[in-house]
Amino acid sequence: MKQTILFLLLFNCFTENIRSQNMLSETYNLMPWPQKIKENTAKFIINSNITISINKQNKGRVRNAAINFLRRLSDRTGIFLEEGFPLSNKKGAIHITFDEVSKLNVKNDESYTLNVSDTSINIKSKTDIGAIRALESLLQLTQHDEASYFFPGVTISDAPRFVWRGLMIDVSRHFQPIGVLKRNLDAMASVKMNVFHWHLCDDQGFRVESKVYPKLHELASDGLYYTQEQIKDLVAYANNLGIRVIPEFDVPGHASAILTAYPELSSKDDFNYTVERNSGVFAPTLNPSKDITYKFLGNLFAEMTPLFPDDYFHIGGDENEGKHWNENKDIQAFKKQHGLETNHDLQTYFNIKLEKILNKLGKKLMGWDEIMTPNMPTTAVIHSWRGENEGFEKGSTLINAAKKGYQTVLSNGYYIDRMLSVEHHYTKDPIGDADLSTKELSHILGGETTMWSELVTSQTIDSRIWPRTAAIAERFWSPQNVNNVDNMKKRLKNISFHLEALGLTHIKNRDVILRGMTNNQEITALVTLSKICEPLKVYSRNKNGTEYKTFSPFNLFADACVVDAEDASPFNEAVIGFINSTKNTNATHILSYLNVWSRNHDAFITLTKNPKIKPLEKLSKTLSETSFLLSNTIRNKELSKENLDTINEGIKTLSSPFVDVEIVILDALKKLTNHCKTNYLTK
Ligand code: ACM
Repeated sequence: MKQTILFLLLFNCFTENIRSQNMLSETYNLMPWPQKIKENTAKFIINSNITISINKQNKGRVRNAAINFLRRLSDRTGIFLEEGFPLSNKKGAIHITFDEVSKLNVKNDESYTLNVSDTSINIKSKTDIGAIRALESLLQLTQHDEASYFFPGVTISDAPRFVWRGLMIDVSRHFQPIGVLKRNLDAMASVKMNVFHWHLCDDQGFRVESKVYPKLHELASDGLYYTQEQIKDLVAYANNLGIRVIPEFDVPGHASAILTAYPELSSKDDFNYTVERNSGVFAPTLNPSKDITYKFLGNLFAEMTPLFPDDYFHIGGDENEGKHWNENKDIQAFKKQHGLETNHDLQTYFNIKLEKILNKLGKKLMGWDEIMTPNMPTTAVIHSWRGENEGFEKGSTLINAAKKGYQTVLSNGYYIDRMLSVEHHYTKDPIGDADLSTKELSHILGGETTMWSELVTSQTIDSRIWPRTAAIAERFWSPQNVNNVDNMKKRLKNISFHLEALGLTHIKNRDVILRGMTNNQEITALVTLSKICEPLKVYSRNKNGTEYKTFSPFNLFADACVVDAEDASPFNEAVIGFINSTKNTNATHILSYLNVWSRNHDAFITLTKNPKIKPLEKLSKTLSETSFLLSNTIRNKELSKENLDTINEGIKTLSSPFVDVEIVILDALKKLTNHCKTNYLTK
């Protein structure tokens, strides 16, 4: 009996805790959601006298973070702060206490506590990084009523679930200027991400100035590369935000750019090496049988490693199909001579040589999961990107790597360039229910979202990264049981708008592109269409990789559209509510959408057409006609056979993708039509 009572008490505490966490996440726009948060009745009113102080003489990264915090707080609240800098000899209303300045590595302690009372706010952490993570939480806590802005009384105790929470940006397929990278680093820091993986070379360009091998940037970058000073500046900028920078030099495959500069390193002599303009996987590959290849990589890495102080160094290693290796007799002879049976064995030989070079330079070698072959030492770090049942053995490469004893990082499931919904990524847990020992679990460092840039430019890259990456950042930081999608979506809306205030262009650039398309005419008709259209998904936009090339336009209608189109989910939900109810629930809501779409074509036809917007006419007209008929049907509760046929024809037309978008209300339109057919068809 006693045991039952104890069980019931514990169960009650547990459910209470879950319930209160759920309620709290409705109230506070924190993202990532903290480990523990408790409310109290306090309210810290923000006024112009608010001050900040830091306990230590060596303030590490906290001083800049504190100034940045006050700047953003005054912007957010409109309050003219008296003191924008940390106080030097007095305790401020916000007081930060930390123990040490972090070395910024995978052992970094980012935990913190934050306590808000009526008159003071205390932040405590082991490292300066913990303190700057706390300042981001505090800023996200800002609330207001009519009279004032305030911080609500809470106690937060927080620490990340994973030590590696990254974003990879590919600057080879499309070069991204330093300013673009800096604003993305700001956004990363605001959601507590801590690794920027810089994919610096690929078939389409080598993007770093090399003084040792200058032909790399001179011949293989189209003039679009980072000087070494710019690299140092960016690494310092990231460091200041508590973000590590991992460079990637992708070898031995993806080597068209390197071989354009230094064809003597190639696996096929009679090949015309040029910087690649298309997308895909290409044959040019470094020659692993030549000493000069290792001399080149040794010298290049020796030049590059001082620019990137992090312990980890990514060598790519992905998607080498070995075509040019197979076609080269000397390479085949080399394989025999060294007892290397397969191309995988040869690549492992190459990788092990690279690991020795990097170890001498004080670096840990990291590579995409193809490098995980039977002979690859477990000192390498495996970056899992392929799904289940691929590669030479079955199962997730992340879990396999962890079981074998490799440190590992997950990107499978977080390929944001696949244009899948935020829900898709958020519900992918890095570990899931895998049965791993504590030691095996400790090998899983965390995850990275990957922004491959075949189809993005500086104008669109933010809208392909954000806001979805903020939700993925929560997946990497917060406890596994923080997984309520609806609640995440609510908070994300708010976070997205704050990201824009931080300088990200993911929201506003839709209109910038549409204004460009219309040559600065009224864009409302196109905005309406963009809210129900999403860019084609899972690489179906650029079939065979040849439709779009490096210098193709990326300011078309599909580029203005984003994943998780604004009107799709509310309309889809309204339709489900409507067809599942006998009381016409949601009819008004549905009609309000249908009427907007029905009238939209009137606005569209007033636009002076040009070749960029003309292809949208069919979409606009068909949507308008279909919506008009559905709207009439719902209002009059009557549907003729002829109108049913026209509606079905319209839906069919809308179903085949054109202008590289898919219309994401089609399922709802089909359901609605079926409902109307069942209930309103005139006999
Ligand atoms: C990759 O996506 N090829 C790592």
